[in-house]
Amino acid sequence: MISPSLESIRVFFHILAAGVWVGGQIVVAGVVPGLRKTSGSEGTKSLANGFANVAWPAFALALITGMWALFDRPDPSPTGYSITFGIKFLLYIAAGAAAVAHARSTKRPVIAVTGALGLIFSLAVLYLGTLLAHG
Ligand code: HEM
Repeated sequence: MISPSLESIRVFFHILAAGVWVGGQIVVAGVVPGLRKTSGSEGTKSLANGFANVAWPAFALALITGMWALFDRPDPSPTGYSITFGIKFLLYIAAGAAAVAHARSTKRPVIAVTGALGLIFSLAVLYLGTLLAHG
């Protein structure tokens, strides 16, 4: 069997965080319309609060393990890598900002737009991460 390494542990936690943050948003988006019909806004509020309790720690874990990955890299990184990382980091911030706006708003259209933007930015972060590791 291949021996476990510290790097594999780091990547494991980074992917776990990515899966919870991005996958969770997709699952919530799929569940909310049905839940609204059966349980109304009380049900969707409870789901949103439960998801936030899991998603924000995952968002923080992605940052910690992402910084760890950067410190593990040989110095200096090629320009293309740095640019890709810079765009990824900006989109990570944008995804977090959209999620905060989504959670704080009470207006339906703002909730819909910020929710969609949060997911789109998060998917872009996921892809750019894959590009960093395997591009
Ligand atoms: C929720 C947000 C994030 C998602 C969804 C995400 C997703 C990913 C994914 C899927 C990979 C590829 C892992 C692999 O196959 O090895 C990756 C790699 C990477 N991520 Fe993230 N990431 C996020 C946040 C961050 C942050 C905040 C940083 C830095 C502060 C970061 C830095 C990196 C680096 C440097 C790599 C390359 C790792 C390597 O080459 O082993 N990520 N990311």
